[in-house]
Amino acid sequence: MESLKIFSLLLLTITSSFVALSAASGWSPPPPPVPSAGYTCDKHPGVCNVATPNCCKKTKTCVNLNTDKLNCGKCGKQCASGKQCCKGKCVNIQKNRSNCGACGYTCLNTDHCCTGICVNLKTNILNCGACGNKCGLNLSCCNGKIANLQTNKKHCGVCQKKCGKGNVCSNGMCDYA
Ligand SMILES: *[C@@H]1O[C@H](CO)[C@@H](O)[C@H](O)[C@H]1NC(C)=O
Ligand SMILES: *[C@@H]1O[C@H](CO)[C@@H](O)[C@H](O)[C@H]1NC(C)=O
Repeated sequence: MESLKIFSLLLLTITSSFVALSAASGWSPPPPPVPSAGYTCDKHPGVCNVATPNCCKKTKTCVNLNTDKLNCGKCGKQCASGKQCCKGKCVNIQKNRSNCGACGYTCLNTDHCCTGICVNLKTNILNCGACGNKCGLNLSCCNGKIANLQTNKKHCGVCQKKCGKGNVCSNGMCDYA
């Protein structure tokens, strides 16, 4: 009988030291079980994980309000078709300079975002002056305008090269008429 008492005491000592050790080492309990009926985030916020940290109480679902097109910025806020949810805002990544082609991709040295690509409308031969405004064969984009460098008096040979008064531009060179 006495030995059983000692044994129990020993067991208690071991158990309590383990608990104390666990607390000291920052041990935490395993994650909660996968949400199932009755174990939903409206009642148990802990079920939402890092990828979907926000709980929409009405639908009892975990979402990411930063990126979810169906819950963008707030539960139930849907982005129009073709738009993405970037940091909780519905954005057209085809056109948005701050989110060009992808959320958070900012156009730095270019003035526009056309079809998800950063471009300089002043010089881009596929987007000259406006998105989609293509320069034809042998034509250039000078200051946002389509120009034929062979014949254009304001852009003769190269963009911005002006011919003097009375000159014409032929074969990209300024000549007297
Ligand atoms: C681009 O997206 C930002 C959000 O990142 C938004 O504030 C801004 O209004 C958008 N710009 C245009 C032109 O839609
Ligand atoms: C384009 O330039 C090339 C070479 O300079 C020339 O052979 C061709 O005829 C030009 N095409 C047009 C449509 O001007």
